[in-house]
Amino acid sequence: MHIENLFSTLWSQYIKLAPQAFDIKELFSQTQTRPIMNDHIALRTLSCKKCNIDVLAKSFIDLGYEKKDYYDFKNKKLNAHHFIHKNLKYPKVFISELKVEKFDKEIQDLLNSLVEQIPDDIVNTSSILSSSRHWDISYTVYKKLYEKSEYAAWFYVFGYCANHFTININELENFETLESVNTFLKNNGYKLNTTGGEIKGNKEVFLEQSSTLAQVIPIKFSDGTYSIPSCFYEFAKRYVNKDNNLYQGFVMNSADKIFESTNLR
Ligand code: NI
Repeated sequence: MHIENLFSTLWSQYIKLAPQAFDIKELFSQTQTRPIMNDHIALRTLSCKKCNIDVLAKSFIDLGYEKKDYYDFKNKKLNAHHFIHKNLKYPKVFISELKVEKFDKEIQDLLNSLVEQIPDDIVNTSSILSSSRHWDISYTVYKKLYEKSEYAAWFYVFGYCANHFTININELENFETLESVNTFLKNNGYKLNTTGGEIKGNKEVFLEQSSTLAQVIPIKFSDGTYSIPSCFYEFAKRYVNKDNNLYQGFVMNSADKIFESTNLR
């Protein structure tokens, strides 16, 4: 699969879960003479051997991506790595996994039973990346998981898809600052994640990020239809670091707050 095809498959799936991302991209496109560029996308998974970060990363590695920094989100019980293509026009890929072993036996068994249902023939192929979930869902289990981990609950419902795409603000015309991007979004009626402030990070850490609140969509559970947060859209502005290169990493404190864009409200 070509890189472009992989990202366009993920985008098509993502805008079904968060149609407002399509509308937001259209809004920005109307202000641009060039196509909108993505800074990164993010994927979520579980730490089990069958489907961990490395399993998801394989398709990207095969397409020329390299594994970069490791991040340990202790409070959220998450590991993460980011991956970069040497051609920086391709989005970075941020993959996180829930540390299943950090939960009690009941939750571990539940999560392991989900993993067992992932068909063997899609693991280690790029189809897993946009394969959604492979199990039935109940709202009762969703709520139980949510009490322990928002991330676990989100993954239980949405499984494999892009959790967010991120517009590369550096490449936008007419938007010099992330503030101006946020103002544009708010003026068009979109709500931003304000956890830790609308803008996470600053020039000193070479990265500023903001995001919409995940779109709330109706989900059909075995025990009823309930509306819950799906996916969100992120915006990133990068600065030149001490080596005089545009910083290409991620900032732990900011990423920690960005995760909360999918919290129930
Ligand atoms: Ni992100």
